[in-house]
Amino acid sequence: MSCLLALDQGTSSSRAIVFDAEGRALASVQQEFRQFYPQPGWVEHDPLEIWQTQLDCARQALHQAGLAARDVAAIGIANQRETTVLWERATGRPLAPAIVWQDRRTVPDCERLREAGHAGLIRARSGLELDAYFSATKITWLLDHTPAARRRAEAGELAFGTIDSWLVWQLTAGARHVTDPGNASRTMLFDIHRQCWDDELLALFRTPRALLPAVVDTSGVLGDTAPALFGAAIPIGGLAGDQQAATFGQACLTPGSAKNTYGTGCFLMLNTGQQPVESQHRLLTTLGWRMKGRTDYMLEGGVFIGGAVVQWLRDGLGLIEKAADIEALAASVPDSGGAVLVPAFAGLGAPYWDGYARGTLVGLTRGVTKAHIARAALDAIALQTVDLVDAMNRDGAGLLSELRVDGGAARNDLLMQTQADLLGVPVIRPRQTETTALGAAFFAGLAVGVWRDTTELASHWQAERVFEPTRNADWRTARLTEWHRAVDRARGWAMP
Ligand code: G3P
Repeated sequence: MSCLLALDQGTSSSRAIVFDAEGRALASVQQEFRQFYPQPGWVEHDPLEIWQTQLDCARQALHQAGLAARDVAAIGIANQRETTVLWERATGRPLAPAIVWQDRRTVPDCERLREAGHAGLIRARSGLELDAYFSATKITWLLDHTPAARRRAEAGELAFGTIDSWLVWQLTAGARHVTDPGNASRTMLFDIHRQCWDDELLALFRTPRALLPAVVDTSGVLGDTAPALFGAAIPIGGLAGDQQAATFGQACLTPGSAKNTYGTGCFLMLNTGQQPVESQHRLLTTLGWRMKGRTDYMLEGGVFIGGAVVQWLRDGLGLIEKAADIEALAASVPDSGGAVLVPAFAGLGAPYWDGYARGTLVGLTRGVTKAHIARAALDAIALQTVDLVDAMNRDGAGLLSELRVDGGAARNDLLMQTQADLLGVPVIRPRQTETTALGAAFFAGLAVGVWRDTTELASHWQAERVFEPTRNADWRTARLTEWHRAVDRARGWAMP
């Protein structure tokens, strides 16, 4: 009864991991699902495919671990954030494809709101930059472009949710329509100070209140799964955005601790304690988690294309067969041979916030091979992270003295060494790199008493390897100067 089932619903795949009370993974199942790119800059998912793959993974993980529903103390959910789903309350059917966080279709809407002078209010209330990344403009778009949607939303027939809400709705057969404050803080409709949906923001984005989920604690039993799904009901004990969950799973529980997750995107999060800190360098102020009457806030910098650049080399260019092949290919050359890749395929996130930036590959000569391009792709992941750390350091939150890393691409030793060299501080990889799922399990386990408190959780975190920087400051400066010249060329490219 002390096992936890973590559902990690990411941008590229759904996964389920069963953890024991020591935080060890007993079984892990992953399924990729389809990405749809109906127009340049658009990214969609099929909400039903997300649900089906997630359910399949959960069932298979239980089977693999030899467990039945009654052996599971609770389910914890971690989810790709911001991705927007509208569905019918009566049937649970999605109204349209989900608009994924990377989708750029609402950039012009954001521009109009900026020109009308609303960016300040949005930042003050939600802690966010006015950007197409967040859910608000995606909801407005769906309401404006789906027949009868606005009328039906106002009549209370429809529900909005980020993926956490969507999964809970499905898991509870429509009994619960909820989200947690961390996920809510990514919609651009939530007041992070008062912790409630904000009427002025709702009016600005023309979003009917009747669409919205109730906001519940990140850790706490919010309901049970429908018994038919797993053979018996399982309590749902926690839900959190995947980056928040990873921060928790990395035991970044005290102010000043930070982690970077190398998933589809890269997300750097710094715990700032119980007070929100306003960024002067275009980072986001966001809510980490709320439990037992206490809220932890974060400073966050996110880049939209991290590990996804490796997917692009695999699926878009066919340079590698599987994602893991990139390390050997990139390591076959000493450097990128002068090539610099700026993977602004979905615009640029923090600290640039340029929705019109597009991918750029510069510095090519006849000597550049696919190995150099692979190397440039790994460099780009690390260089984007350096931009985030620099912004955080300049925000005066204290100089980062080490960086905890996780996510799929953190297993790539060459990337981690490159990261340490470019940052000039040690990069620490934990034994358990599935920290997103672990964080979800932690939230759920705390809710049902598998673990007593966060001190006990922190004792389950262990370093596996420390990557020490091996390059000097001159080398770093030269690399960053070259990188910023390339970024300048990528900026504004798709501006009409
Ligand atoms: O904000 C988007 C983020 O939550 C997506 O995470 O792990 O799917 O890249 P990931």
